[in-house]
Amino acid sequence: MSRIVFVNGVFLPYEEARIPIMDRGFLFADGVYEVACVLDGRLVDNEAHLARLERSLGEIRIANPFSPAEWTRLEEELVQRNHLEEGLVYMQVTRGVAERDFGFPSDARPTAIMFTQPKVIRHSAAAEAGIKAVTVEDIRWKRRDIKSVALLAQVLAKQAAVEAGAGEAWMVEDGFVTEGSSSTAFIVTPDGRLVTRPLSNAILPGITRVAVMRLAAEAQIRVEERLFSVAEAEHAAEAFITSASSLVMPVVSLDGKPIGTGRPGPIARRLRELYLEEALRPASAAAA
Ligand code: PDD
Repeated sequence: MSRIVFVNGVFLPYEEARIPIMDRGFLFADGVYEVACVLDGRLVDNEAHLARLERSLGEIRIANPFSPAEWTRLEEELVQRNHLEEGLVYMQVTRGVAERDFGFPSDARPTAIMFTQPKVIRHSAAAEAGIKAVTVEDIRWKRRDIKSVALLAQVLAKQAAVEAGAGEAWMVEDGFVTEGSSSTAFIVTPDGRLVTRPLSNAILPGITRVAVMRLAAEAQIRVEERLFSVAEAEHAAEAFITSASSLVMPVVSLDGKPIGTGRPGPIARRLRELYLEEALRPASAAAA
């Protein structure tokens, strides 16, 4: 059965979906996106993803084509139409279709698309074993807080990881880790404190990051938002990444050097469990 996708208000088979070549997303990467996780057929942390979509759109002055309630209804319909139990919903909004010219077109209507991707998230083998990470220079622009579809730097970073047999690339600026190519970077210090970079224009404000920091605080784990260097990461007790597509994923080596025991650490494992527990709680209990 064909995958059903969403294009500008219409659900249709993937094979029939068409975007004009003059779409500014295609020509200029003039657009933003979101990725939300689906577990047990339900969207996880979706309100926060839609709030970040609204913010990203606002920062580049594209009108949001749908309200949060409309987005939610459309996402839920897409999940149902694709019988998606576990995986991802991808949403993208571009400035729309117009004759190629750098300045904003006066008459373009935003292009909104969505698709789903099945993915094993809960019982992922990578989460059991942990992943390797490599460091690369962070060569991105200065507005990394916007979830822009201009992802060439991240594509090159991830490819460097793939070619090194690693699962993620940690991007580095002035000796300090900014974030993963598609994830937030965390370390655990030898005395058990969780460290992640504070929010700024240098990183994407991760939705999973916020939830994990809250869960850590609730579990009496001390959380420090500060810069950390590659050297500090190499000597950390544990490391992990967070994202909608991996939740909490242990990182067991950096540039070929084991982190801590070289196995997923207890804090990363615990935070993954806590995150899953909360996400999988029945809707009625979550609302209570
Ligand atoms: N990426 N930092 C970057 C650069 C990211 O691309 C992502 C997510 C994150 C984590 O954010 P969140 O917890 O909200 O998913 C941090 C998504 C999953 C992607 O591009 O596929």
